[in-house]
Amino acid sequence: MRTLAPGKVSHQRPSPASALPEQPLTDSERRHAAGLMRVNHAGEVCAQALYQGQALTAKLPLVRQNMEVAAEEEIDHLGWCQERIQALGSHTSVLNPIWYGLSFGIGAGAGLISDRVSLGFVAATEEQVCSHLKSHLEKLPAQDEKSRAVVSQMLEEEEEHAHSALAAGGLAFPSTVKGAMSLVSQAMTRSSYRI
Ligand SMILES: [Fe+2]
Ligand SMILES: [Fe+2]
Repeated sequence: MRTLAPGKVSHQRPSPASALPEQPLTDSERRHAAGLMRVNHAGEVCAQALYQGQALTAKLPLVRQNMEVAAEEEIDHLGWCQERIQALGSHTSVLNPIWYGLSFGIGAGAGLISDRVSLGFVAATEEQVCSHLKSHLEKLPAQDEKSRAVVSQMLEEEEEHAHSALAAGGLAFPSTVKGAMSLVSQAMTRSSYRI
């Protein structure tokens, strides 16, 4: 529930943005940066749901434990994005409860099929997230160092999540499945950017 609550998320590590100065942005740059960070925040809501869904149904205790460690890092990401959006004077996506519900169902479903499918789904999702984060590093205003620091740190950790899910025995999904996942994530990113 804390994933969707509008209040502050209590995260463990301070935001990578906190040590950096706030640079002046024009109104349109600020809106654009907030839109991109809103997409990233929605992605983190999905990550919470996915990991929580999987933790519920994963069979091997080791898999469950791994998921919980990654889920803790995702809480930091969620909190960092939320803080940054607020600092940019904007709000998180009103669609988040929908993304949460869908991702929770998918996560729990994947866990019911098998741990390998479940881990494979984590890997494929994290890869998708990484490609979004990379594109956001290109799209964010150059002087918005704070948003960039958050996105860069997240990118590093999502790459690690993808890598460890595969290393733990995750199934490498075929490109057709990844293609379908990318269509879904495009719908999510387009809508969350605006609302
Ligand atoms: Fe994340
Ligand atoms: Fe992740």
